[in-house]
Amino acid sequence: MREMARKTARDFAEKRLKPNAAAWDEAEEIPGEFYREAAELGFLGMMVPDEFGGLGLDYASYAGAMEELARGAAAFQVGLTVHNSLVCGAILAAGNGDQKKRCLPKLASGEWIGAYCLSEPGAGTDAGSLKTAAVPAGDSYVLNGTKAWVTNGGFASLFLVFVSTDPARGNKGISCLLVERSIPGIHIGKKEKKLGIRASDTREVRFENCRVPKSALVGEENHGFKVAMQVLDRGRVAIAAQSVGIARAAFDEAVAYAQGREQFGRPIAQFQMIQMKIARMAMEIDAAKLLVDRAAGLLSAGLPCTKEASMAKLFASQTANRAAFDAIQIHGGNGYTREFPVERLYRDARITEIYEGTSEIQHLIIAREVLGSSKKPSSA
Ligand code: CAA
Repeated sequence: MREMARKTARDFAEKRLKPNAAAWDEAEEIPGEFYREAAELGFLGMMVPDEFGGLGLDYASYAGAMEELARGAAAFQVGLTVHNSLVCGAILAAGNGDQKKRCLPKLASGEWIGAYCLSEPGAGTDAGSLKTAAVPAGDSYVLNGTKAWVTNGGFASLFLVFVSTDPARGNKGISCLLVERSIPGIHIGKKEKKLGIRASDTREVRFENCRVPKSALVGEENHGFKVAMQVLDRGRVAIAAQSVGIARAAFDEAVAYAQGREQFGRPIAQFQMIQMKIARMAMEIDAAKLLVDRAAGLLSAGLPCTKEASMAKLFASQTANRAAFDAIQIHGGNGYTREFPVERLYRDARITEIYEGTSEIQHLIIAREVLGSSKKPSSA
C-alpha cells in the first residue's frame, strides 16, 4: 500500500505537477482542475477511512505521497497537506460522529477543500494568544475576528477555526469550530504576494458577526488548543516530507547540471568542491528521510511523536534550504535566473522553516521533550 501511494503520487507529480510548476509560480495560481484530478486519485482523503469515502491510508503512506507531490510542486502540495493533515486530521481525532458523517465524505471527494485558521495578525508563534472571539448566543456562537496566512483561504468550503471562548483563560479558553463557507459574515481578503510557493492560495479571513451553530464545536469547549497542537504534531511530519521533496528536486537538478555543464574542459561534476556539495546533499536528504520515516511510523502505530515530529520538521526543512542553496551555487549564474527550476526551489524551500512552527519553536519543543517539563505534551 505504501509503495502504491508513493508511486501514484510520483506519476501524478511527474506528469501533471512538475511540467506546470514554473507557469503556476509566474501566474501565482493553480487552476482548479488540478485539485479535481488529485481528488479523483484519492489525494484529498488520504487518511480518511473508507466508510467516509477516503483511502484509509496510514501516516507513513501519506507522508511518502506528500514527499513525491512536493517534489513536483510544493505550492500545490501544501494545500493538500493542510486539507489532509490539519483539517481532516482534526475531525478524525476530535470530531463527533455527526461531524465526521457530514464533513469527511465532502472533504475526501474534493467537493469541499479545507482550511486551517489558527494564526492571526497578532498571534503567530504565540498561537495561544489568539483573539478571534466566539460569544455564545442561544444555540450559536457569534464570531468576530481576523485569521491570517490561511492556506486554501480563497476557495475553501470548510474552515477549521480556533476561537477564544473564554478570553480570561488564555490558551485554556480556546475552542475549535467547523465553519462552513456558506455562513454569512465570512470575508475573504486579498491573496498574499509571497516569496515562494507563490501559487498556493494564502489569504486573510475575517469573521464579522458570523453565527455558527454550537453543533460545530469540535471536541469540548475551551479544549481547542490541544486539538490545534495535536494536529500540528501530525502536520509537521507532512511538512518535513514536503521539505524532503523540495530537497530531492533541488538535488536532482544539481546532479544533472553538474554532469552536463563543462568548465576548464570537463564536466563540473569532476571537481571535488562540487562533489563535496553533492555528497552532503545526498547524505542530508537520506538522514531527513529517515527522520520523517521514524515520525510517520510512530504516527502509523498510534504512538506519541511530538519530539520526533519536531526533529523531522527541523532537520528536513534545514536540509531543503541547504540543498536549494547549494543547487543554485552549482548552477552558478544560471541558477539565479528563472530559466532554471532551482531558483523557484530556493524560494519554495524558505517557508518550510517558518510555517507549522518556526525552526526556533521546533528547537524549543525538542529541548522541552528532552529535558522534561511540567507540561509534557502527549500526542497519542
Ligand atoms: N500535543 C498535545 N498537547 C499539547 C501539545 C502537543 N504537541 N503541545 C502543547 N500541548 C498542551 C500542553 O500540554 C498544555 O496543556 P496543559 O496546560 O493542560 O498542560 C497546553 O497545550 C498549552 O501548552 P503550552 O503551555 O506549551 O503552550 P504555549 O502557549 O507555551 O505554546 C508553542 C507552545 C509550542 C509555542 C505553541 O504555541 C506552538 O506550537 N506555536 C507555533 C504555532 C504554529 O505552529 N502555527 C502554525 C500555523 S498553521 C500553518 O502554518 C499551516 C500552513 O499554512 C501550512
